[in-house]
Amino acid sequence: MLPTIAWKNNKVIMIDQRKLPAKEIYVTHSNYKQVAASIKSLLVRGAPAIGVAAAMGVALAALRANSKKWTGFVREMKQALAVLRASRPTAVNLFWACDRMEKLMLRYSFMPVADIKKLLVKEALLIEKEDIKTNARMAEYGSKLFKKGSTIMTICNTGALATAGIGTAFGVLHRLHKKGMKINVIACETRPVLQGARLTAWELKKNKIPFRLITDNMAGIIMSRGIVDGVIAGADRITANGDTANKIGTYQLAILARHFRIPFYICAPYSTVDLKLKSGKQIPIEERNPEEVTHIFGVPTAPKGIKVYNPAFDVTENRLISGIITERGVIRQPYSKNLRLNSKK
Ligand code: MRU
Repeated sequence: MLPTIAWKNNKVIMIDQRKLPAKEIYVTHSNYKQVAASIKSLLVRGAPAIGVAAAMGVALAALRANSKKWTGFVREMKQALAVLRASRPTAVNLFWACDRMEKLMLRYSFMPVADIKKLLVKEALLIEKEDIKTNARMAEYGSKLFKKGSTIMTICNTGALATAGIGTAFGVLHRLHKKGMKINVIACETRPVLQGARLTAWELKKNKIPFRLITDNMAGIIMSRGIVDGVIAGADRITANGDTANKIGTYQLAILARHFRIPFYICAPYSTVDLKLKSGKQIPIEERNPEEVTHIFGVPTAPKGIKVYNPAFDVTENRLISGIITERGVIRQPYSKNLRLNSKK
């Protein structure tokens, strides 16, 4: 099986996550517009995977650019960067990857355009490689936080489908399982798009990690039974004070976890930390198509023409987070100080 995203013959191949688990279909992307459309439509999703896809999108834009001279090339690239940046608003990894690619291009403006193109492809592949390593480090740090036999609740999909490696929060679960720690996972289905049921359950099953699937509204009673030892989730953006945007439903898990005195961890690479934003109030929250709420797989589940709310993410206040697992270690309160200190590593 191919990984979630692969660079092959100067094209980007990605598994269509909208079709999972029913069908495993790979889609070939030859230009940046196709990549941007795939990010928007959730063909590819999950913050780190979006970052890798965007970097490869920039590389495709460079390869397909017509101009041989710097001024024309940079004009074409700025256009591509704008389209990619507009594909989704919340996961900061998208902007992080686009900024990194743009900076590299500008730094080498003195070089022939043909050489800059090669550098951009190399950089996109480096971003992918780094993500694989980052995932492995986070898994190691995170796996030290849980005891043998733990039951751990998670939400959304944070595994190989959401990253270039084994995943963020999922990577921790995977490492615990591989270490023989006999964990049990409780996966929340994650309405409205069902990343938990469709994608996480698919990955847990493939990796033979024992788990149970629940609907999101079952989290309270399951925690009240005293069987949950910890909650772990990914992140789409972490602000300077530790407030964390993640898939809708994460916030209520954090509140429940605090109520039942269960540790609640976030696991994310440093590329998800946005020190430019002071608090979660400044994070742009994506509002998606109302049909995600009124329909399931195209079948109406609510009356026609009604109004809905459909924020794709929520923000968990830093005070509810027991620790943020990163590739630089587990960051604890006070987050304002410790996130900044570790950013220099
Ligand atoms: O809308 P999605 O599926 O892109 O949302 C994904 C999430 O919220 C993940 O939990 C987050 O990106 C962390 S993934 C490693």
